[in-house]
Amino acid sequence: MTKKRILSGMRPSGKLHLGNYAGALENWVELQNKFENFFFVADWHALTTNPSAAFTVKENTIQMVIDWLSAGINPENPIFIQSEIKQHAELHLIFSMLITTARLERNPTLKEQVRDLNTENMIYGHLGYPVLQAADILMYKANVVPVGEDQAPHVEITRELARKFNQTYAEVFPEPETRLTKFSRLPGLDGRKMGKSNNNFILLSDPPKEIEKRVMTAITDPAKIRRNDPGHPDICNVFHFHEKFNPSEIEQIRRDCESGALGCVACKRNCAAKIADFFEPFREKRNYYETHMDEVNDIINTGIKKAGEVASATMADVHKAMRMG
Ligand code: TRP
Repeated sequence: MTKKRILSGMRPSGKLHLGNYAGALENWVELQNKFENFFFVADWHALTTNPSAAFTVKENTIQMVIDWLSAGINPENPIFIQSEIKQHAELHLIFSMLITTARLERNPTLKEQVRDLNTENMIYGHLGYPVLQAADILMYKANVVPVGEDQAPHVEITRELARKFNQTYAEVFPEPETRLTKFSRLPGLDGRKMGKSNNNFILLSDPPKEIEKRVMTAITDPAKIRRNDPGHPDICNVFHFHEKFNPSEIEQIRRDCESGALGCVACKRNCAAKIADFFEPFREKRNYYETHMDEVNDIINTGIKKAGEVASATMADVHKAMRMG
């Protein structure tokens, strides 16, 4: 039986944090053996909300790919960069004729992003970025796309575009299914969404000392002021990190926090140590790749070559179906 194909992509955000890990990367690593995989860096997508991101994309791409490899993404899989495969731009153009602006304006994720950007002026490329995403996905005729909830509307748009293309021209594309990441998002140290701009993150690559420094800044239960005060683990940010990275002690920690036997400082120290342990193999691998950059570049170049072959074949199908191009 041939394996179904999965396409996984992220914007190039540089070194990844624990939120990226729990929300996506961990899931990619887990799924990779069940599917034929393509992993890619969505670098053009970074420009849709900030055109100047172009200047930092290259370095951020490399750092992110090193994190993927260090977290266990198998380098035998194609790992590539969107902007190196120019066919994505062509397919995006073709798809842009098959969807209305009204449909794109109805996208809840876009609305949320525009609200966050605090602007009245919608960039044309931002409105259309799900169309580019559809091109990313359908270029490889992916059957499955692992995404967080915020990206699910884009996979729906992708399915609609596949149908519309097939109806208008000829049957070329499968309709991919969404695979939601199973872990609900890991909040940041202050309880907001973990993100670089919120300064509430821990990097996968942080050394143990830095992890401890950062965990110490976490906001715990505000009612637990003194060590002996009874705490409420369910509203404590540190407890969420224990749940994820220290599951074997979780019941004990809950009891000791609630009874007042465990103070926040000791609890945080323990948590930081467990996170540091969890990522020890990661740091070792990262060390290796940092000193073998040629290998990283080879992996990416091989991925670009493989992706380019698939993209050429798909575009040949597209041209044939359209009887042009
Ligand atoms: N839009 C995605 C994000 O912002 C990144 C992305 C672009 C993507 N193309 C994709 C994800 C294709 C999965 C498949 O996170």
